[in-house]
Amino acid sequence: MKLKIALLPGDGIGPEVLAQGKKCLQAIEDKFNHDFSYIEAPVGAMAIEKFGIPLPDSTLNICRDSDAILFGAIGDPKYDHDPDAKVRPEQALFKLRKELDLFANIRPVKMFPTLIDKSPIKKKIIMGTDFVIYRELMGGIYYGKKTLSQDGTIATNVCEYTEKEISRITHLAFKAAKGRKKKVTLVDKANVLESSRLWRRVVTRIAESYPEVALEYMYLDNAAMQLILAPTQFDVILTENLFGDILSAEGSTIGGSIGLLPSASIGDENAMFEPIHGAYTQAKGKDIANPIATILSAAMLLQHFSLHEEVMAIVLAVDKTMKKNIVTPDLEKNSMFGTNHVGDSIASHILDMDDDLNINDENIGLGRSTII
Ligand code: IPM
Ligand code: MG
Repeated sequence: MKLKIALLPGDGIGPEVLAQGKKCLQAIEDKFNHDFSYIEAPVGAMAIEKFGIPLPDSTLNICRDSDAILFGAIGDPKYDHDPDAKVRPEQALFKLRKELDLFANIRPVKMFPTLIDKSPIKKKIIMGTDFVIYRELMGGIYYGKKTLSQDGTIATNVCEYTEKEISRITHLAFKAAKGRKKKVTLVDKANVLESSRLWRRVVTRIAESYPEVALEYMYLDNAAMQLILAPTQFDVILTENLFGDILSAEGSTIGGSIGLLPSASIGDENAMFEPIHGAYTQAKGKDIANPIATILSAAMLLQHFSLHEEVMAIVLAVDKTMKKNIVTPDLEKNSMFGTNHVGDSIASHILDMDDDLNINDENIGLGRSTII
């Protein structure tokens, strides 16, 4: 298959982890005879330094023209510590999501059995965790009207949702549930928020056209507890933008590191894939960042084009590398292995994988459900 892939390294550890994602995609090309082309473009704080804006038009156009985007990370403490900054790196992400109409953010949370001892949570609680968060990505408080009073003492952000915005992600979540454990949990604050009550009405109505899928409702505060107390109860979590941001970061603690979780942001025309972690600027250039979230994001990219065997090849290579304990220090405090070495190991297992690709139930299970 021919694919045009835009690479947006961004800030902090973004370039380092993205390089490992590209390395693994190139290994897939070699192994499976694909023809991927890559074009890099500036975004985030590094684009502000060079061009004065976080998302130059040229970058946006490269993204529009590509089949898919692989994204590194965004953000810089310089802006985090300056609440008065007029330009912020994160604006690039919001603009990309909006301009490319990436309305569905899909964040799988799955326990890697190999890493079960690395989790801060008890084994018996997390064993078998396998859920996916469908986070609405283009509405809510992130995009609502905002105000700051003249004297700077009162600020507001409006959480606004339309029926249409709720409905399109809801259909995707129910379709995903049909192929999984057939349960959707709508997470909201319908006891407090009018916008959440609209979510409930719309989702309840849509659920009627998916009779094989069970719909349950859960308040956000309870969901925050349940995610840690009994994560195996979840299958598909459907929720709004801000709640999905928070719950997915919480979900990442289950696997032992936020450096493991990939994501896909999907629209009707475009698709972007990125690790859920941030720029982790303190680790920049130290070769300690975990590249696995980015490598699994590359796998989600392949899954988007239905390259299932290729997805499985990446997932198995990741698993083999983990089994050898070739992991970065976020997972093994005194690890001697760095970002680059972990990437090399995964890429070489992809290339060297004939024995493992004997399709068996275990492999299919790994490949299919680890990603979504
Ligand atoms: C995420 C991130 C972003 C978000 C930040 C970097 C703006 O936390 O994708 O989860 O809040 O959406
Ligand atoms: Mg987040």
